[in-house]
Amino acid sequence: TYIIAEPCVDVLDRACVEECPVDCIYEGNRMLYIHPDECVDCGACEPVCPVEAIFYEDDVPEQWKDYANANYEFFEDLGSPGGAAKIGKIDKDTAFVAAQPPGGE
Ligand code: F3S
Ligand code: F3S
Repeated sequence: TYIIAEPCVDVLDRACVEECPVDCIYEGNRMLYIHPDECVDCGACEPVCPVEAIFYEDDVPEQWKDYANANYEFFEDLGSPGGAAKIGKIDKDTAFVAAQPPGGE
């Protein structure tokens, strides 16, 4: 799977959403999260993010490893909705993301 990391926090550009062929990038309150089971690793989202927030899971920079966990944890109670468009904005973040200072680090 691909992972969205710190640069997305409070930016939420959403350019990535348009590119994803399986609509697996879901919107929380302060950032977007990629569904680890629905992502097909096409990589289309990664180059379009203007703040370079998206990484292949194995390539997430060390200081942002907690965001890999966040992308999994976000979906623990949601299961696999099978598409972000029909769900719309989800009124939550993971605890780790919610605890970030405004504008990220
Ligand atoms: Fe965030 Fe970048 Fe997508 S800022 S919403 S990961 S285009
Ligand atoms: Fe979609 Fe990006 Fe995965 S475009 S399929 S979230 S690599």
